[in-house]
Amino acid sequence: MTDFSGKNVIVTGGSQNIGLAIAEKFLDAGATVIIADLQPPDNENLQFIKTNIASEGDVQVLMETVQDEYGGLDVLINNAGICIEVPIHETTVQQWDRVMNINAKGVFLTTKHAFHLLKRSDEAAIVNISSIEALGANPTHSAYAASKGAVSSFTHNTALEYGVHGIRCNAIAPGWINTPFNEAFLNQFPDRHRVDAEIKGLHPVGRLGKPEDIGDVALWLAGPNSSFVSGQTIVVAGGRMAKLPTPNLGD
Ligand SMILES: NC(=O)c1ccc[n+]([C@@H]2O[C@H](COP(=O)([O-])OP(=O)(O)OC[C@H]3O[C@@H](n4cnc5c(N)ncnc54)[C@H](O)[C@@H]3O)[C@@H](O)[C@H]2O)c1
Repeated sequence: MTDFSGKNVIVTGGSQNIGLAIAEKFLDAGATVIIADLQPPDNENLQFIKTNIASEGDVQVLMETVQDEYGGLDVLINNAGICIEVPIHETTVQQWDRVMNINAKGVFLTTKHAFHLLKRSDEAAIVNISSIEALGANPTHSAYAASKGAVSSFTHNTALEYGVHGIRCNAIAPGWINTPFNEAFLNQFPDRHRVDAEIKGLHPVGRLGKPEDIGDVALWLAGPNSSFVSGQTIVVAGGRMAKLPTPNLGD
């Protein structure tokens, strides 16, 4: 495992599930990990700075505090995100703006204000958590999908503009990761056993994703073993996106 001792890492939305798994991977690798979330993590080895990433004031305070109290920043993981399930014609402007403000504007704000810290690091990296929904659609997820498309596009610009300053930027597009994020969808169906089997069947690897699967790839993308990788969105979805849909014509 790459040694991140002496490195400072911010994980937005790192108090639970995917973000927490990412944070704990960096902790195990020796980093000082600062969680920027609305609520604290249940792990006393993680540092916490209460932050609404959709607020520029909060993000400025976050970066100033990290500079003053921890002496700089090496890795920024933009993980915080929300999803709503509403058909396009029923989506209110407020709902659309809320999703965009957190998922897309939040990534812009943290990147913007982390730049002056990251450019002083020897090996700086940004990892944005996008989604396979940046690449293909699920019904009723238009705002979410558009926001994740923005995250993947913004990853290109960040890599382009900041590469010259020694900052790499990549995104991860997770597929189906087993977290409460997906509960609302699953709860629509009474036969949970059948739903689980159907969803597993979408994945050539024969299982759903775990938060740790994303943590492993985030660690790789932030470390020296990926030093020639920048501006990419890496799909981590158990092979699901490699599978072409086929007509169900029976036997
Ligand atoms: N779970 C999946 O299947 C899946 C698939 C693809 C992508 N993702 C993405 O991975 C990321 C994490 O997903 P998860 O399943 O762990 O979600 P989650 O809802 O369990 O965790 C999200 C975290 O973000 C925090 N957060 C929300 N709004 C915030 C704000 N304004 N400021 C700061 N923190 C805020 C929450 O408090 C929470 O701790 C999200 O960006 C999500 O879109 C998840």
